[in-house]
Amino acid sequence: MRKLIHLLFILLCLAPEVVSAKTSSRKGTSRKNAAVLEYTQNPHVAPEIWEELKPYFLPPNHPVKRRLDKIFKGTRVIATLEAIKEAGFLNPVPQRWSKTIVTGHPHLPGYMVKMFSDEQAPDSHLVDHKAFLRRILGAMATRAYIKEHKLDHWFKAPKKWIYPLPADPGPLPGALDRQNFILIAEDMDIYHGSSNYKRWHREVKDDRLRALYNICQTLGLKESILAFNCPFCKDGKQAFLDTEYHHDWPIYYQRMMRWLSSDMQSYFWDAINAETCKKAN
Ligand SMILES: Nc1ncnc2c1ncn2[C@@H]1O[C@H](COP(=O)(O)OP(=O)(O)O)[C@@H](O)[C@H]1O
Ligand SMILES: [Mg+2]
Repeated sequence: MRKLIHLLFILLCLAPEVVSAKTSSRKGTSRKNAAVLEYTQNPHVAPEIWEELKPYFLPPNHPVKRRLDKIFKGTRVIATLEAIKEAGFLNPVPQRWSKTIVTGHPHLPGYMVKMFSDEQAPDSHLVDHKAFLRRILGAMATRAYIKEHKLDHWFKAPKKWIYPLPADPGPLPGALDRQNFILIAEDMDIYHGSSNYKRWHREVKDDRLRALYNICQTLGLKESILAFNCPFCKDGKQAFLDTEYHHDWPIYYQRMMRWLSSDMQSYFWDAINAETCKKAN
């Protein structure tokens, strides 16, 4: 009996040691993993910009990080449109106005990538980190508004992160520019073209139209009144995809009319907009 009590005593004393050794060895491994995945500061980026953007970096332990590291390792993927294509990105064509290349990759299911190539002429609009940060902050404000006003049965906005590109390999000799970041966004599984426009025509009405107006007007989402920037998704919600312009007024609602039914066009001007104008006076 005494032997048994002695044994129990030893076991009880040792147990915390064993647990702590196990956790510390686990901690050691995860620390090692985190070190492998952690971003290396890019010497071509000013330290104050790096610090400003850091909170918006894709978390090093995010499952997509490892996949991106693999895609961008070894070759300068964003050197040219051809290089982007060779790296596996689908149909990488710059958007008409913003010139952003918005694309997906078979190894990044569920995510979209927005980027510029090193061969796009430098332009104040194409300073990648500024454009990407504007998009992230716009999406954050939109998600917060949707949550606060309990509108998530109708609307959503993707989470977006900055992925800092490896400094090496750098741009090809003679490149017009050096892009240091790309943007990753959740893929909202949207309807394209007429499948989306049809839904706008049929479903954007009454309270939903009013809610859309309130979001855009409050947050100055001046491009989200265009059907392709706030498309219907397979889950029936509309996604605020294009959040680069936010807190930016006035908003020209005439641009939204072509997607609304004639009833809703009248409702918009006679009720929704008229009410706001009355309040303003
Ligand atoms: N998160 C996303 N999920 C699904 N499709 C997207 C997403 N972001 C962009 N797209 C597609 O790419 C197009 C262009 O993206 P957008 O953010 O509007 O760029 P731009 O500012 O150049 O107009 C969108 O109209 C949409 O078709
Ligand atoms: Mg757009």
